[in-house]
Amino acid sequence: MVKKFYITTPIYYPNDVPHIGHAYTTIVADALSRWNKQKGKDVYFLTGTDDHGKKIAETAREAGKSPKEFVDILVPKFKDAWNKLDIKYDRFIRTTDKDHEKLVKEMLQKSYDNGDIYLGKYEGLYCVGCEAYYTEKDLVENCCPIHKKPVEKVKEESYFFRLSKYQKDLLKLYKDNPKFIYPKSRKQEIVNRVKEGLRDLSISRTSFDWGIPLPFDKKHVCYVWFDALFNYLSGSGKNEKYWPADLHIIGKDIIWFHTVYWPAFLLSVNKKLPKEIFAHGWWTFDREKISKSRGRVINVDELISITGNKDSVRYFLLRATPFGDDGDFSEKVLIDRHNNELANKLGNLVSRVSGLIEKFGVEKTTNKLLKKLDEKKINSLMENFEVDKALNEIFSFIDRCNEYVQEKKPWETKDKKILFELKESILKISEVLLPFIPESAEKIKKQFLAKKIVKENPLFIKIEEKIEEKANKQEKLIGIMDTKEADFSDWEKLDLRVAQIKSVEDVEGADKLYKITLDVGEIGKRIICAGLKQFYSKDKLKGKRIIYFSNLKPRVLRGIESQGMLLAASNKERTKVSLIAPDSEIELGSTIG
Ligand code: MSP
Repeated sequence: MVKKFYITTPIYYPNDVPHIGHAYTTIVADALSRWNKQKGKDVYFLTGTDDHGKKIAETAREAGKSPKEFVDILVPKFKDAWNKLDIKYDRFIRTTDKDHEKLVKEMLQKSYDNGDIYLGKYEGLYCVGCEAYYTEKDLVENCCPIHKKPVEKVKEESYFFRLSKYQKDLLKLYKDNPKFIYPKSRKQEIVNRVKEGLRDLSISRTSFDWGIPLPFDKKHVCYVWFDALFNYLSGSGKNEKYWPADLHIIGKDIIWFHTVYWPAFLLSVNKKLPKEIFAHGWWTFDREKISKSRGRVINVDELISITGNKDSVRYFLLRATPFGDDGDFSEKVLIDRHNNELANKLGNLVSRVSGLIEKFGVEKTTNKLLKKLDEKKINSLMENFEVDKALNEIFSFIDRCNEYVQEKKPWETKDKKILFELKESILKISEVLLPFIPESAEKIKKQFLAKKIVKENPLFIKIEEKIEEKANKQEKLIGIMDTKEADFSDWEKLDLRVAQIKSVEDVEGADKLYKITLDVGEIGKRIICAGLKQFYSKDKLKGKRIIYFSNLKPRVLRGIESQGMLLAASNKERTKVSLIAPDSEIELGSTIG
């Protein structure tokens, strides 16, 4: 009988375009899905978006859109990114899909009927970024430990899920299924926390309505995590054909939701539990957390544009760190791997051997070279999710093939048997590389299976060559090698002026923004929106002389056209912000530089 393999990614919040972190999880899941397919399993791969919740509702409002309009604009960007990265999923689920909404209502009703949901009052500290409650002791300097932003005091009537009831079942689950939480290093922390005791979980909200209404009380909408986790069940194929999931791939940030809430919800509605949950590490950007507010985000298009090749991105992310560990993104390492491993090692092997075969042909013989490829080892590494090590193994075989060419010198000996061995080995390489770099692997396969092998264009253009090539075409190179360095001409483009704050108003519905009117001397009056409310009172701002970026493209924030920005310093966490001001009464409109 064919074994099934149901694999999932988290469903991502569509509140911005996907970035390297989302891409990483999805690429790993895609590679594992393709690999299992190759092994003959009946694979089902689910990904999608988490459309509901307060975070989405707020971001949509800031953009002046309804939540549904807003997510409908962003969801295609996820699909587009996955398409560009050759992600081959079986279903892209959205929590706004009708079948999902129906299932969530059924599950809520079932859990309610089983006596696991009751009405109570909730008072707590909520972080919208995490869509989760915290206790005082979780906070760091009164802020959410993950987003480093102030939490909200929330007090509302709420339905609760009897999470506390499942403590024993959960501990038994972890004990009886050593592979339920992977890697092991993350498991103990969960076990310890569950042992400390579980509090019942608030699973409904009345303060906003962007969610699935509870079937037994329509005033309430379902808590986004109850809604979201059930995507794995509603997306599990016709009549839940593929349930239970064989593997949920997630980031370490959401391990608690997946290893505690999720099995408890499933136990409550009498459904089978997923078999394994793998929580991978966190990507940083030049050692800093990836964060939208601080501008350290690299999205999928930017990522691909560095080398111009999607397979380099897939390869880099899969190989860069042991799966499970944290990783630091650097353009330089991506370019180095692209040049040294893909262009030099793999690309050169393919191009040299195809050129030689084009000239001299092949003659069948026993293949001693291919025996050096340890497929058993690769298989066992992949079964343990050691994706990076599997790639290491494949690349040491590629090294071996390159050495073989050097040793045997087929360009001198014209030995068709050696070329046969190399051809078959390269075909095997294309097969084992397919889950990781599908486009290039397909190209190699096509080329080497062709009746007449003809040397094709290089598989991977080395980055320096690409730069030269582009330079010849007189194209702009900015951003290819080193995006950090700014040119003097970049600075010259900015027009910074001394301005005075004339008036400050609140912006309806925004807790961070002020609408500020400026006098910029010869430039005249300007209106801007600035996120200063947490840091300055209106009185402190009024009359202040500041530095103003006058020629930025206007942006619409909360329906107000903001005509530029103020110059300010902020600490890493963005918990402190200080305006930069001229230290004398210089005329308004004076330039800076
Ligand atoms: N919507 C929830 C998940 C619900 S699943 C039932 C959510 N969404 S998210 O958009 O915030 O995506 C979180 C996931 O994106 C992480 O678990 C991880 O897989 C991936 N990553 C986001 N940022 C990341 C890094 N900086 N590094 C690695 N992966 C990260 O949480």
